[in-house]
Amino acid sequence: MINAQNVSELNEFFQDKEPKDILRQVLADVPNIAISFSGAEDVALVVMAWKLNKEVKVFSLDTGRLHPETLRFLEQVRKQYRIDIEFLTPDAQGLQALTSAKGLFSFYEDGHEECCGIRKIEPLRRKLAGLDGWITGQRKDQSPTRANVAVAQIDTAFSTPQKTLLKFNPFANWTSKQVWDYIRMFDVPYNPLHDKGYISIGCEPCTRPIGPNQHEREGRWWWEEATAKECGLHKPGVIATDFSSR
Ligand code: ADX
Ligand code: SF4
Repeated sequence: MINAQNVSELNEFFQDKEPKDILRQVLADVPNIAISFSGAEDVALVVMAWKLNKEVKVFSLDTGRLHPETLRFLEQVRKQYRIDIEFLTPDAQGLQALTSAKGLFSFYEDGHEECCGIRKIEPLRRKLAGLDGWITGQRKDQSPTRANVAVAQIDTAFSTPQKTLLKFNPFANWTSKQVWDYIRMFDVPYNPLHDKGYISIGCEPCTRPIGPNQHEREGRWWWEEATAKECGLHKPGVIATDFSSR
């Protein structure tokens, strides 16, 4: 049984396991869990989980700034696999306060934290409050800030004194190539932006296609330092922590 006490051991156990086997165990042992789906190549995670459990819960942060291609792709996945993707929207008051005070592109001037805080983090926090764990498509090879991503961990960013939240990254040890091999092998639909030079895909104003030999993260928040390129969904450097003494 997976719980906050054994997550560290579990992380060790999962190191040489395939994502499918990790997902199978996690979905069986943590029923109150959902996949966080961005509408990019993490579709492989959603489809892999759906093959194991047709009732798998999936949610997506509809920030209001996603590309039309991403929205259409999310809808395509929803229909094709008959998954009730839950779309989480930002709090209207908070958003209105930001855009009224600073306009629609303040992140280019004073950084992405504030906008991501309202459009992503607050809705995510709301959602995670009702779950025991969540599953993401994070990989070590995605970014220097993710080099230590654990397969199984306590989510120290979103746990509360009342509840310890588990976080699973079944693709942590997979490479981009392995994800794309899966997509091609199983004929999984993918976001058409990937055919237009986009590797990592987030919100439209903060994502751009990249050229040859650029790292995928250079297509995200390119006006900021590489070390700042996390929006708060995934607190960097959080490894499987033993919280049992808390
Ligand atoms: S981000 O933090 O920089 O935006 P990234 O795009 O690399 O994250 O995606 C990594 C994982 O974070 C995705 O596989 C997904 O689990 C989660 N994620 C990112 N953006 C979203 C989103 N808009 N909705 C739901 N999950 C997301
Ligand atoms: Fe706002 Fe850009 Fe963050 Fe999207 S990625 S929430 S548009 S700052």
